[in-house]
Amino acid sequence: MSNQVRKAVIPAAGLGTRVLPASKAMPKEMLPIVDKPAIQYIVEEAVASGITEILIITNRGKSDLENHFDRAPELEERLLQAGRQDAYDEIVALTRMANICFVRQKETKGLGHAVNCARSFVGNEPFAILFGDDVILGETPVTAQLCQAYEKYGLGVVGTKEMSPWKR
Ligand code: UTP
Repeated sequence: MSNQVRKAVIPAAGLGTRVLPASKAMPKEMLPIVDKPAIQYIVEEAVASGITEILIITNRGKSDLENHFDRAPELEERLLQAGRQDAYDEIVALTRMANICFVRQKETKGLGHAVNCARSFVGNEPFAILFGDDVILGETPVTAQLCQAYEKYGLGVVGTKEMSPWKR
């Protein structure tokens, strides 16, 4: 079995209670950073790291995530009619970045439970986990760095960052 990491799981089924009220009706993963929702940066990072198969864990309130990576025929037609080829190309490319599929975590039972929902997608292969709300920008994508470490040593790898002490 190859130890190249080709699969990624993105748990995005949390309730986002720390970013209320922004996340009450809209998934926090859809909050925009400049002109793209956070989840798009995450998927782009995975793709730039060599990932080709992505499973996003959602819940019943997160269908916007599925829509974002789906084709939008009426919008596409309008853009073409208006001669906005660049915008058209961009939104179509977004749907072709990787093989993206979705599974619902039916009850919000925590991160471990969410990752377990990816069990059959992952099978017996190595996989990366990226958080749907954790955007990290770097020259070499962080996921690529972690995958390289895994491929070199054959062991699980975790990315961490230094935090200031939590104060309430
Ligand atoms: P977080 O604790 O950062 O996200 O979970 P949360 O639960 O949405 O946020 P708060 O704490 O209420 O503000 C880490 C990751 O695990 C996912 C979240 O979507 C996030 O990407 N998660 C968490 C699930 O997929 N399912 C869960 O049941 C819990």
